[in-house]
Amino acid sequence: MKYGFFDDAACEYVITTPKTPLPWINYLGNKEFFSLISNTCGGYTFYKDAKLLRLTRYRYNNVPYDNNGKYFYIKDTTDSANETIWNPGWQPVKTALDKYECRHGLGYSTFTSSKNDVEAKVLTFVPMNDNCEISKVTITNNKATSAKLSLFSYVEWCLWNADDDMKNFQRNLSTGEVEVTDGGSTIYHKTEYRERRNHYAIYSVNSKVDGFDTSRDAFLGAYNGPDSPDAVAVGKCTNSVASGWSPIASQQINLELAAGESKTFIFILGYIENPEDDKWEAPSVVNKKPALKMISSYNNEAAVDAALAELKAYWKELLSNYHISSSNEKVDRMVNIWNQYQCMVTFNMSRSASYYESGIGRGMGFRDSCQDLLGFVHLIPDRARQRIIDIASTQFQDGSAYHQYQPLTKKGNSDIGSGFNDDPLWLIAGTSAYVRETGDLSILKEMVPFDNDMSVAKTLMGHLKCSFDFTATHKGPHGLPLIGRADWNDCLNLNCFSEHPGESFQTFGPSEGPVAESVFIAGMFVKYGEEYAQLAELLGDTAEAERARAEVKKVYEATTTAGWDGEWFVRAYDANSNKVGSKECEEGQIYIEPQGFCVLAGIGVEEGLAEKALKSVEEKLDTKYGIMILQPAYTKYHLELGEVSSYPPGYKENAGIFCHNNPWVSIAETVLGHGNRAFDIYKKTCPAYVEEFSEIHATEPYVYSQMVAGRDAKFHGQGKNSWLTGTAAWTFVNISQYILGVYPTHNGLSINPCVPEDFGDFTLTRKYRGATYNISVKQNGAQKGIKKLTVNGKEISGNIIPYEEGVKEYTVVAEMG
Ligand code: GLC
Ligand code: GLC
Repeated sequence: MKYGFFDDAACEYVITTPKTPLPWINYLGNKEFFSLISNTCGGYTFYKDAKLLRLTRYRYNNVPYDNNGKYFYIKDTTDSANETIWNPGWQPVKTALDKYECRHGLGYSTFTSSKNDVEAKVLTFVPMNDNCEISKVTITNNKATSAKLSLFSYVEWCLWNADDDMKNFQRNLSTGEVEVTDGGSTIYHKTEYRERRNHYAIYSVNSKVDGFDTSRDAFLGAYNGPDSPDAVAVGKCTNSVASGWSPIASQQINLELAAGESKTFIFILGYIENPEDDKWEAPSVVNKKPALKMISSYNNEAAVDAALAELKAYWKELLSNYHISSSNEKVDRMVNIWNQYQCMVTFNMSRSASYYESGIGRGMGFRDSCQDLLGFVHLIPDRARQRIIDIASTQFQDGSAYHQYQPLTKKGNSDIGSGFNDDPLWLIAGTSAYVRETGDLSILKEMVPFDNDMSVAKTLMGHLKCSFDFTATHKGPHGLPLIGRADWNDCLNLNCFSEHPGESFQTFGPSEGPVAESVFIAGMFVKYGEEYAQLAELLGDTAEAERARAEVKKVYEATTTAGWDGEWFVRAYDANSNKVGSKECEEGQIYIEPQGFCVLAGIGVEEGLAEKALKSVEEKLDTKYGIMILQPAYTKYHLELGEVSSYPPGYKENAGIFCHNNPWVSIAETVLGHGNRAFDIYKKTCPAYVEEFSEIHATEPYVYSQMVAGRDAKFHGQGKNSWLTGTAAWTFVNISQYILGVYPTHNGLSINPCVPEDFGDFTLTRKYRGATYNISVKQNGAQKGIKKLTVNGKEISGNIIPYEEGVKEYTVVAEMG
């Protein structure tokens, strides 16, 4: 069952009922000012950091689930015997609407609704170059007679620090302050501006108003929620000026619309910073100059339409970097629109703010951000470059790294510390992807601090050496890399041994153990060790490349021996040197991660182990909704394994379908030339396919979720934690570089698709190092293999289109077979 449809021409998902199984959200903002907005107008706004600079309040863990947003109320008093109050997004009043449609587009959302022949159209977006959210609200009277209406706006301010805001009431209920100007048209939220803050927020409408409120209790009534504001029921705002308690911004506009008439209003929610020495225009009166400038930039429809056009042009240009046209419309829509869009959202948000990540917890994950980079480096290489430097700056001199860092301060987060032994290698992954994409070797020579201390800086290449050496020098009894607190699987805590509730699996116990080893990190070392060697070669250091390859060889051998279980790769050795993920185990006999990652790294391909490992995945882990992370699920808590066994069977890392690692297996299948199977895996978790059973999947059908409940779970097939997941980046890598087969190498683009037999011919435009590649692939029913490759009319040998400085257009014809 579906709750809407894709409108590919408009790059929108159209939701046709407000009653989706979960809130279906969108992200607004591209640089520093962001909003989350659901299909019922729920959500919140922040500047740069969802924890520290939150503009509007949201209540996670609320009932109903999606409560608090930026709402508009329409009160229709045309027929005094039948007055109605409704919202264009249905919530919070939930009056049944005669018509409802929400369109989530690239950086904007629209709502079109009607009730009793009054139509409301709300367009909301964050413009490219300002720290504000604009809502353009158009009310149309479609009645045969004139209509008497009142429009009320509503936003609830957050007192900036979202964490403190929901805890520290003894202080916060006394600090709220506002200013009101122009009879209520503009409301200034200035809590804490009198002391250490130099920023405030505004909510403004480009019209005279008939009333306003800035005290929540005055507007709602002390015993009401946003679903039944007193002021709206009475039809009159109280002109309250908040003093402490909970400041809000609400404006009332009364309207008399003739039959067929419409009126448009523009609301601006903005963030303003003033210089420290220019905070006030008079004692206790904030300096409003920059606010007035912002307001005047968007106070008419033409200006708003131009700002929206600019936003659309930005996305069009961005997405033109990789564009496919095939006979499969689902693949086209994911590749051209939604998968890349989600990659950009993960660039902006990492794992901080979604409807499942509260914005007050995790900052930027070291491994997460390095992997996200794989999905957006072709879109915004300059920003990827800066991101790599930021991430590397939180590394320690021994190569280990802070597991997380704060986006605002860019400093490592000492609450969680380090000890996740996969982290260092992801830095090589991200850097290598950047250099292959751009050819920019200068980044490797950039001086980068350790733990933000410039006095101990090394070049980025020096950092990568530390990463490489960290793994090479932290090995266990089988010659496999030590796991530390955990590897990619945060929940495989082999040195933790936690016995008491409340202890964090992530930080409890020693961060190191001399015994527990990870076969997954071994796979990473083989893959990224080789990529490190290639970077060394590019810098002319062949001795280092040789040394690296010799180290890689040792780990390769350990993986195919101690890391091999007979039919699949072992997952790990625990602190007692017992196997994890082996037929010897009672539960958790096979894990997905080493099968996918070792094979995509090329381990066991020649020896025939790779074929066996992937066969085992198909037999033991596959379901119709995707591949589970392990089987059989843990039914008991295992002290020696940690959090992985803490989840009920079928959820999260305990045998859930963890979407992030499904593309690893799909990529692994392409390494073996299995186009049918690779694509089959791709389809199972792909939103455009999943859309068909949205009532089971529950999360948004236009983006990936972190997890889908596995076969052992009661709600098999149900998605959770949508949007902020490494699945976006890895799937884009899989479909664009391995299945469609356009892979950036240091010497140029390589063309080597691996598609299902019935995929058909396709054409693809790829921008790369300033040139445009127009590639057409004739499939000839083959799953893999190029028999002829011509570039600008000339046949070339091999798969790599040699990059030639100065050539701006490449016409490429690839014949498979
Ligand atoms: C979450 C984390 C990620 C981790 C994964 C598996 O998605 O953000 O860092 O690799 O879970 O545990
Ligand atoms: C929990 C989650 C895991 C996530 C981690 C991040 O362990 O199960 O998915 O990676 O928290 O802190």
